[in-house]
Amino acid sequence: MPLAPSHFLLSCFLMSLLAYTIKQSASRFSARTITKPLISRAMHIQSIPMWEGTGNNYAYLVTDDKSKESVIIDPANPPEVLPVLKEQTESGAIKLSKIINTHHHHDHAGGNSEILKHYKLPIIGGKDCTQVTTTPSHKSQFTIGESIKVTALHTPCHTQDSICFYFEDGSERAVFTGDTLFIGGCGRFFEGNATEMNKALNEVLASLPDDTKVYPGHEYTKGNVKFAKKVLDNEAIRKLDEFSQANKETQGKFTIGDEKQHNVFMRVNDPDIQSLTGGKDAVEVMKALREMKDRS
Ligand SMILES: *[C@@H]1O[C@H](CO)[C@@H](O)[C@H](O)[C@H]1NC(C)=O
Ligand SMILES: [Zn+2]
Repeated sequence: MPLAPSHFLLSCFLMSLLAYTIKQSASRFSARTITKPLISRAMHIQSIPMWEGTGNNYAYLVTDDKSKESVIIDPANPPEVLPVLKEQTESGAIKLSKIINTHHHHDHAGGNSEILKHYKLPIIGGKDCTQVTTTPSHKSQFTIGESIKVTALHTPCHTQDSICFYFEDGSERAVFTGDTLFIGGCGRFFEGNATEMNKALNEVLASLPDDTKVYPGHEYTKGNVKFAKKVLDNEAIRKLDEFSQANKETQGKFTIGDEKQHNVFMRVNDPDIQSLTGGKDAVEVMKALREMKDRS
């Protein structure tokens, strides 16, 4: 049926009204999206330095931003950690659900009982950690809130109960390495040997995605670079040297991919290091490097 002129005019009017409404709501929509962050981050990592100037330890508070569920990693010195936890639990910024320990040493797990006096929490960690609730098996997983997936990676050597915790939230990856891997170095072999450290660093941790950020238990980078420079000269080591001179904190600033370049303990196949240590066997190179570092 052909439209009568009056109907035609009415349609024109309705069409322009509709177009106007769409335009208005579109501009409202874009105004709203501008004020919102484009990517909503899921994993938030807060470093808590402890015993600065002596042990230079780090505790880490990791929060799933959507659910606000948080875990506290190695809260070894409660006077420095509790105020942070208190402020954020009381303001509703976080809901603390677990203590995680990377290994049993006092400067990592020694704060557990004091933290438990203030918060009733399960403790996930190595078998020798004080008051541990659960020791996850190698490669077992658990989640924090809605978006963080954690994988436990057994890395015995520094202690037999050393566990590195690999956190993924879809777009970001982080590994909390305790005293197994430091930026530019590794822990002493207190309860293990070079075979175990070679496996921990060059098989277990080396197999993580290269863009995984490294969060170690101590700020030891300056000393590690000093040693690395005696063993090897490469661009990555020079860059790490510069960075550590200019920045007090280096945790979370380097990745597993970076460690493969600037960490001599992850370069046991480097011909220059092999000629210095006098052998090609990875375990022998690891052993020689650790002995040199211990003497340095
Ligand atoms: C290193 O430690 C592992 C595990 O305890 C053991 O099986 C291995 O024999 C040790 N290797 C050496 C060379 O001592
Ligand atoms: Zn330790």
